[in-house]
Amino acid sequence: MPDQPSIFITGAASGIGRAAAMLFAERGWLVGAADRDEAGLAALAGQSDAIVTLTLDVANRDAVIGAFATFGEHTGGKLDCLLSNAGIDAKGPFGDMAWDRVRQLVEVNLLGAMSVIHAALPLLRATPNSLCLSTASASAIFGVGGMAVYSATKHGVRGLTEALSVELAGSGVRAADLLPGIVDTGMLSAADKAALPTEGMWRVMPAEAVAQAAWEAYHGDALHWFIPPELAELDRQSTAAPEAVRDALVAGKMI
Ligand SMILES: NC(=O)c1ccc[n+]([C@@H]2O[C@H](COP(=O)([O-])OP(=O)(O)OC[C@H]3O[C@@H](n4cnc5c(N)ncnc54)[C@H](O)[C@@H]3O)[C@@H](O)[C@H]2O)c1
Repeated sequence: MPDQPSIFITGAASGIGRAAAMLFAERGWLVGAADRDEAGLAALAGQSDAIVTLTLDVANRDAVIGAFATFGEHTGGKLDCLLSNAGIDAKGPFGDMAWDRVRQLVEVNLLGAMSVIHAALPLLRATPNSLCLSTASASAIFGVGGMAVYSATKHGVRGLTEALSVELAGSGVRAADLLPGIVDTGMLSAADKAALPTEGMWRVMPAEAVAQAAWEAYHGDALHWFIPPELAELDRQSTAAPEAVRDALVAGKMI
């Protein structure tokens, strides 16, 4: 379809990425849905003719470059929105974490995100008013004890977004990130879910709420999108009085 807007989403085979792929496709966009999970992609491909699936490990640089070359052929060299979203998590004390796992988290969540954004830039620059959007996390508001490496990678994504929002301003490419709290996806175990509150900023959000925030991010101008929006207050507190947030967490209080 001429002039059909396009989005490239990593981690599109499940959870937040899948919900975003469905939402943008339903609203008339051409979706490049990339993931390393081939079975998940095959299930997604059956949902809409507007979804082009691409098998991709974001930690493989050559594959990342190849995926954008392929999707660019579908879009005539344009890309209205990138959603760099693929991610993995790991829990446990930092000192006990196997070094290979530390490296893998950084390679997927941070270096993978950088690789995807770097490879997408020529397409984004060729498209007026494009958006480079990344899924960070509420763990990029204040680091989460027991998820130190994950939190560090998400702070990295947030810092990258802020830097690019300035650096790319003159090129017509906007940058923003999504900072979800707790989302009901494959990342959340049944035990996690049962232990979580049913109200307040740490309530479990549906993946569709994050997909909707991605839609609003493209059509809006905010730099950081908190899901749910109440997390913005924690962001303000963490900036104004990080020691108070630290002390509350050390005391085991729910912030
Ligand atoms: N679920 C939450 O509570 C939550 C909260 C905040 C942020 N996030 C972030 O949201 C993003 C999406 O996660 P989700 O919650 O939808 O989980 P999910 O596990 O349902 O989806 C993650 C997707 O990323 C894909 N993926 C993982 N490694 C990959 C790689 N190397 N290359 C390509 N694809 C890869 C997986 O196959 C999967 O389809 C992640 O970046 C995650 O850190 C999740």
